[in-house]
Amino acid sequence: MKYEKNILCIGAGYVGGPSMAMIAYKCPTCKVTVVDINHQRIAAWNSDDLPLYEPGLDAVIAATRGKNLFFGADIEAGIRENDIIFVSVNTPTKVFGVGAGMAADLQYWEKTARQILQYSQSPKIVIEKGTLPVKTALAMERILSNNKTVHFDVLSNPEFLSEGTALRDLENPDRVLIGYRDTESGIMARDTIVEIYAHWVPQERIITSSIWSSELSKLVANAFLAQRISSINAISALCERADADITEVATVVGMDSRLGNKFLNASVGFGGSCFKKDILSLVYLCRHYGLNEVADYWEGVVKINQYQNDRFIANMLSAMFNTLTGKRICLLGFAFKANTGDTRESPAIVIAGRLLEEQAEVVISDPKALKNAGADLEGIAGKISYVLDPHEAAQGCHAVAVLTEWDIYRDLDFQKIYDNMAKPAFIFDGRNILDHKRLFEIGFNVYPIGKPALTHF
Ligand code: UDX
Repeated sequence: MKYEKNILCIGAGYVGGPSMAMIAYKCPTCKVTVVDINHQRIAAWNSDDLPLYEPGLDAVIAATRGKNLFFGADIEAGIRENDIIFVSVNTPTKVFGVGAGMAADLQYWEKTARQILQYSQSPKIVIEKGTLPVKTALAMERILSNNKTVHFDVLSNPEFLSEGTALRDLENPDRVLIGYRDTESGIMARDTIVEIYAHWVPQERIITSSIWSSELSKLVANAFLAQRISSINAISALCERADADITEVATVVGMDSRLGNKFLNASVGFGGSCFKKDILSLVYLCRHYGLNEVADYWEGVVKINQYQNDRFIANMLSAMFNTLTGKRICLLGFAFKANTGDTRESPAIVIAGRLLEEQAEVVISDPKALKNAGADLEGIAGKISYVLDPHEAAQGCHAVAVLTEWDIYRDLDFQKIYDNMAKPAFIFDGRNILDHKRLFEIGFNVYPIGKPALTHF
């Protein structure tokens, strides 16, 4: 069968996998191939046990895989046979050398650029799909311009999907952003990518801009979202001291139509693969240009997040008589948020680590993230166990701490949990999702975020 477009995606992760599945689903006339250097991951995409959990993903994969969506490992053939190449490889924060702990590590990105250069025999449109530091496209163009016979157009098309709602976000995006170079071929390349999205996204939500604005917009959108959480988390600390209630404060603030009510839930801290990484990348960029005040301002967002993790542990310690040694603590939730098994930058990693340092015994429960939790805590000394069933996990514990806002935790049998715990029983609600008054009446000492504690002492 002859396809209207042949699309390749290099990188089969949280962005590449779901976003290409959606393109294949919405564009039956396009052939989409996803490749990755990680053969195990490709095998998982080709199996019934997909490499990541995302509500609704199974159905979209079932409808497309083997028809116009293919997962493979042959990167060279992929590059040769497709003229539209999305690049969605990971760009973690650098852990070595210049910019360690701040700048994005571009080694995978550059390797991919060089592979594209090496194997291309016909003109290609290359699209940055991951979140990349500003001016990465320029580096890409420079590498690709070493091939004098093949023409490349580099575009930026950042992905704004949020994990846990990826399919919904992809199907009904607030906006699709395409950054392009204002040249004849750049405009043609832009129109080719617009055509793909126009299959299902209304024209007015497909925004085009310069490549640099596009790259920067993605970093800035994430920085603004994270800033809201850090702002409300900072105020939660004040509420705990001032006998105010963060939920009441957030409701009032969020009703201001200029602000809106989203992303104002105080929590144990934000996690995920994007927020911290992107803010640090923004901070690094500002420092590079000598904008130290601007860098300090944004760095504050990350610092408050760390402070919120620290505060959570400090509260646990002081509530439980300043010693956790030998106490069993149940963590309800390990994923960085609900509806995903992803644990990257999850506050749970920090909290579990600190509890183990305090020589507590940690019991971890999570409906989807136990495998990742095991990998995150591998090699850390101390007593850790992993129990899928939350009621069983809490058995014999001195405290329960809710770290992920999974819906199932709202409806647990807390009377039963209380009856089977050591006394006095403590509950630390790091997501403010439980009915605190009821828990208190059952007999728990309850410590929410940003509200007065309810204690029996
Ligand atoms: C984020 C952006 O939302 C998305 O647009 C971007 O493309 C990638 O990064 P994601 O990391 O999947 O998406 O999760 P998000 O829903 O934004 O949540 C991030 C973290 O903030 C989670 O740990 C979440 O639990 C926390 N959070 C969110 C809060 O603590 N309070 C809130 O009110 C909202």
